[in-house]
Amino acid sequence: MSNKIKTIAVLTSGGDAPGMNPAIRSIVRTAIGNNLKVYGIKRGYAGLLNNDLVDLNASSVGDIIQKGGTILNSSRCPEFKEKASRELAYQILTDRGVDALIVIGGDGSFKGAHSLASEFNFPVIGIPGTIDNDISGCDYTLGFDTAVQTAVEAIDKIRDTAESNERTFFIEVMGANAPSIALKVGICTGAENIIMGHEQTDIDKLASDIKRGIRRGKNSSIIVVAEGKAPGRSYDYAKELELKHKINSRVCVLGHIQRGGSPSGNDRFYGSVMGQKAVKALLDGQFCHAIVCQKSEVIAIDLDKCLTKSDDAMKSYIGIAENLSI
Ligand code: F6P
Repeated sequence: MSNKIKTIAVLTSGGDAPGMNPAIRSIVRTAIGNNLKVYGIKRGYAGLLNNDLVDLNASSVGDIIQKGGTILNSSRCPEFKEKASRELAYQILTDRGVDALIVIGGDGSFKGAHSLASEFNFPVIGIPGTIDNDISGCDYTLGFDTAVQTAVEAIDKIRDTAESNERTFFIEVMGANAPSIALKVGICTGAENIIMGHEQTDIDKLASDIKRGIRRGKNSSIIVVAEGKAPGRSYDYAKELELKHKINSRVCVLGHIQRGGSPSGNDRFYGSVMGQKAVKALLDGQFCHAIVCQKSEVIAIDLDKCLTKSDDAMKSYIGIAENLSI
């Protein structure tokens, strides 16, 4: 099988994540070390549909391991859900002589890759790249560690002002539909509460927790909120807390700051390891796989195990922050 792969392409898709650049660097240099030609596809699937491929060599990926974002740019591409778009993509890839595609992105990006592989028997490998850490089959996604660190540093700063002015703060973190960031950030900052799911939040209980903290001598509260279906729900909670319980609070929605910044050591490390394993997997004839971290090992598993959103990576830690913030 391995002698079939002579040229590969790599793209980054969906929301960018710190760690994508280290992965691109590793893919390119591993490929070159194995005498493969490598194309970078600009702007994810949208760039693929536009035939926007660039040659990558060892120096094109120099000096990027420490950079956030993705040198290939990224985009969301709803058109790729249409079979006609995937047909066009397949045509472009074969016309350009590309034998296999590596996709760095989230579950949606993996679905596109999986369809391309199953409809056209086209070799694909997925590398999990999203700050949300929410892909089934994966204990870790590139970008999560850096995003958590960014949010922790921001909340430490907010804690200073919260204590000085004796306030409650709602701090909303990213993670569309996934509570992984909120959970880890809440534990790491000693948050008094973490609001995770979409279910109705019990503001009465929140108020009684805050009051219990005050009785115990606390003068501020940090409540970390997972953004849920859309950013901004913290404002509703703050309003309700004021109206029903006369507890004044402030809201800070951290937003896209969490997606930027120099990748952490873990994101550089896993980006480098996953990139190398992705190329090796192709050379070993693994044609519809994802390179994932499971139980601290980086392995190739069937891509179809990684097509849904999942909270599994962090769910065993639910409750820790609340237990520790008494
Ligand atoms: O990439 C994941 C993510 O950062 C989510 O946490 C967030 O809800 C979403 O992307 C924001 O997407 P966009 O940048 O397209 O608004």
